[in-house]
Amino acid sequence: MAAPALTPEVQALLDKQHTIRLGDKAPNFDADTQLGKINLYDYLGDSWGIIFSHPRDFTPVCSTEIGRGSQLSAEWAKRNIKPLALSVDSVQHHIEWIKDINEITGADVNFPIIADEDYSVSVLYGMLDQTHLSQAGMPFTVRNVFIIDPQRTVRLILTYPASTGRNFDEILRVIDSLQLANSHKVATPADWVKGKDTMVLPTVSTDDARKLFPKGVNEIRPWLRTTPDPSAA
Ligand code: BEZ
Repeated sequence: MAAPALTPEVQALLDKQHTIRLGDKAPNFDADTQLGKINLYDYLGDSWGIIFSHPRDFTPVCSTEIGRGSQLSAEWAKRNIKPLALSVDSVQHHIEWIKDINEITGADVNFPIIADEDYSVSVLYGMLDQTHLSQAGMPFTVRNVFIIDPQRTVRLILTYPASTGRNFDEILRVIDSLQLANSHKVATPADWVKGKDTMVLPTVSTDDARKLFPKGVNEIRPWLRTTPDPSAA
């Protein structure tokens, strides 16, 4: 795909962006949303958080993502995680668009969507898409996901292109894995879902693992040990 022409002003905006890495403290910010002004840290309180950006209001794929995000409210609550969406559209656009989403998908969008018209949060989190510009030549946001833990540490970063809607089952799966690994000395294998066997961390000896995991440890190799999901009943 040919790169769009960037004006010097847009290039300067893109260059100003911060880079967020896993393990960074999530930068705090104040922002306007369709539910009023929020401060990130106040909004999250003691909870985990998910910030997910989308390119534009009134676009089909983004509508499915916001609809799905709202239909997952019980899943977010179960995991003690507060959702927060973002685009560079206005509060009024968000309000009008949410009416359509609710009507079309049967959702009840009840979490804040940041109206980042001045690009301040997008620049702070490095969310701008240099490949996707408005007719006025201004960048939209990519489909980012940031998962933030209660200590305000960034634990997951995903970046999807505008043409691909995110898989929210995958996002919930990673949150389950992160929360499990927070409380048990395990990691989770490819395609793991809650309830399936987990892998004993390489730093734990098999003798110690047998004490830590009373459900049993299967030593396939000294470096490859599985144990049933320690969080499952
Ligand atoms: C969409 O949400 O449908 C979309 C947004 C930007 C570019 C392509 C698709």
